[in-house]
Amino acid sequence: MAIDSFGRRIDYLRISLTDRCNLRCVYCMPEGGVAWKGHDEILSLEEIERFAGIAVEQGISKIRLTGGEPLVRYGVVDHIRRLRAMTGIEAIALTTNATLLPKFAADLREAGLERVNISLDSLDPAVYKDITRGGNLADALAGIESAFEAGFDPIKLNVVVVRSLEQDLFGFAKMTLERPLHVRFIEYMPVGDDANEGIEGALGAVGIEGAGCAGDNPGFHWTRADHVPSDDVLAKISRAGQAVGAGPLIGLERENAPGGWGPARYYRFADAQGTIGVISPLSHHFCSECNRLRLTADGKLRTCLFSDDELDLRTVLRSGTDDDVRAIIKTALDSKPESHNERVGTLRRMSQIGG
Ligand code: GTP
Ligand code: 5AD
Ligand code: SF4
Repeated sequence: MAIDSFGRRIDYLRISLTDRCNLRCVYCMPEGGVAWKGHDEILSLEEIERFAGIAVEQGISKIRLTGGEPLVRYGVVDHIRRLRAMTGIEAIALTTNATLLPKFAADLREAGLERVNISLDSLDPAVYKDITRGGNLADALAGIESAFEAGFDPIKLNVVVVRSLEQDLFGFAKMTLERPLHVRFIEYMPVGDDANEGIEGALGAVGIEGAGCAGDNPGFHWTRADHVPSDDVLAKISRAGQAVGAGPLIGLERENAPGGWGPARYYRFADAQGTIGVISPLSHHFCSECNRLRLTADGKLRTCLFSDDELDLRTVLRSGTDDDVRAIIKTALDSKPESHNERVGTLRRMSQIGG
């Protein structure tokens, strides 16, 4: 079992398979894209599997593959098959923008993938196109249908709430009435150097102090004004539900919530098929329940989403022994911070960290 120095059991590893993506969401990547990491900079699938094998031995039992867009990584289906076959792995999950699920969903399921979380920020084709800078909503919706057809359960939708995007949040919430979908509203975090007001702005929003952050994403920046606290989202959806006779929202205990390893809190409308969740990194701290380590596509081990102190696993994987790899996992567990120490945000992009 892997226990960190604050007694938290660490059994969840998030692996970013690639920093590349077939979309360019405004809050995630600059319009021109980012300079992709070179082939040698990115861990090979064999290197990831070697690490995963050792991490599983040390106590990791759940793996989520992220990106960028993990389905653009060549060989992802067989990679999942090999990870899933490791003794000690309980489940593998994937976070995807769904546009490639029509092509991959059935094969992913057959390879042993248990769960998919789908990132989708608007149900309006024109707004979706703007947010993703050119994406086609029909592709993402077809991806959701493929996930249902392939038998994934639960299927979650991740909606990053950005005030200035004026998303129809109740439009998402209504989907849970008819379908066993789990819609999660995520507080927009100042991740990556596109955060204009930067980390300080985010901290201002929640009334705490912290470090700064530069800006290089012309056209879109994190601002304090764009942060919508989850409690406001829930109140608005609950009111809208009551207005159509579906509400109010009812809070769910963990045993009634959809299966998951993350920090979401869940609610539902009484007669709904699915649930509504919120992930509130700015307004509610969940560090005391943190159960995860992150591996970036370029082989850095991150002990906290909001800490840019990374461990250079790639060098160890390329020149070290298995014992050296075990030692770096131990260092990660020993140095994992108790909380993000009032610091909300990071200098690396979400597409590089994997969320
Ligand atoms: P489940 O296993 O289904 O609960 O998934 P998950 O919430 O762990 O993963 P997902 O990739 O769907 O992430 C959803 C959102 O939660 C993303 O925006 C993540 O960045 C955010 N998130 C996940 N873990 C953390 C965390 O440790 N800290 C913060 N601040 N955000 C997190
Ligand atoms: N704040 C909150 N969530 C974000 N995501 C990407 N960037 C941000 C951000 N700045 C979400 C994606 C995906 C998940 C892995 O992280 O939409 O659902
Ligand atoms: Fe791609 Fe996800 Fe970033 Fe959008 S948020 S550009 S889908 S990695």
